[in-house]
This record gives sequence, C-alpha cells and structure tokens, in this order.
Amino acid sequence: MIEFDLADEAATHALGAALAKLLRAGDFVALYGGLGAGKTTLSRGIVRTLLGPEVEVPSPTYTLVQTYETAGFTLWHFDLYRIESVDALVELGWQETAGGVALVEWPERAGGALPAWRLDVRLGEDGTGRKAGLEPHGEDWHKRLHGFAF
Ligand SMILES: Nc1ncnc2c1ncn2[C@@H]1O[C@H](COP(=O)(O)OP(=O)(O)OP(=O)(O)O)[C@@H](O)[C@H]1O
Ligand SMILES: [Mg+2]
Repeated sequence: MIEFDLADEAATHALGAALAKLLRAGDFVALYGGLGAGKTTLSRGIVRTLLGPEVEVPSPTYTLVQTYETAGFTLWHFDLYRIESVDALVELGWQETAGGVALVEWPERAGGALPAWRLDVRLGEDGTGRKAGLEPHGEDWHKRLHGFAF
C-alpha cells in the first residue's frame, strides 16, 4: 500500500487530479472510507482534471450514480451508501461500466459484484486532515502505480 498524508481538502483534490492521469477505459476504482472521509472530494479532483475546473461534481448520495463523458471514456461515479441490494446495481448501469471508468464510493455495498482487478483507495481521518492509501490489485495497476507521486 502506498500512503499519503492529505493535510486539507486541496490535497485530497490534488491526489484525485494525479490519479486522473493514470485512468484508462476499463478501470475500476474503489473508494473506501467512512462518512466524510473525502471520497467525493477525491472524485471531484478526478472529474475536474478530465473535464475542466468549472464542472459541477455533485455527490451521488441520492442519485446513486452520476455519469460524465470524457474524451476517452464514460466515467461513472457511484455512491452505494443508500443502495437497497446488490441486485439494484443492474438498474444503475453497473454492467455498462466495463467499457468506461467506474469510481465507487461505499464499494463494500457491491459485495461480490466488485471486480477483482481494481485500484483500492482507502481514506481515513488523521487529526484535522486525512490519510490515503493506494492498494493496487492486478499486475497492471502495480506497474502503473510504480513511482506514483503527486
Ligand atoms: N484532506 C482533508 N482534510 C480535511 N478535510 C477534508 C480533506 N479532504 C476532504 N475534506 C473535507 O471533508 C468533508 C467531507 O468530504 P467528502 O464529501 O469528500 O467525503 P465523503 O467521503 O464523500 O463522504 P460521504 O461518505 O458522506 O459520501 C468535506 O467538507 C471536505 O472538504
Ligand atoms: Mg461522498
């Protein structure tokens, strides 16, 4: 696991911006961390780096999913906190994400529907700031994260 200290919201956003540059069609990023850990902030950094700093990136707390069209792929931003069951993922377009990029808050709610090949990001509180851990699953993610810094 690669760990970083995120002193403030801007640092969480910047980690997202750096991760955005690694993303390719087919990627799955699981964003772990409790309420308020910074999952949406990190997602906002990713989306704004791909689409522009003016883009609105609302939390998908109630819609459960927001989609964005980027130059190379469709980006799906899920928040599964309020999902009723794993079966409900299908209605959200879960299967269609395979050709795009999925960012998933509360990924533990997806149970066995989580792909094995993925990047896990673990966010947690650390004083007034946050800490982040990047955990690659699969050879390709290991290679891509080699030497990662931001
Ligand atoms: N590194 C940081 N240090 C301090 N505050 C931060 C940091 N990163 C994000 N925050 C703040 O934490 C709050 C919650 O952030 P955010 O909405 O991204 O959390 P979340 O993990 O998506 O929460 P939820 O589980 O409710 O969706 C926001 O006010 C945000 O500005
Ligand atoms: Mg959130």
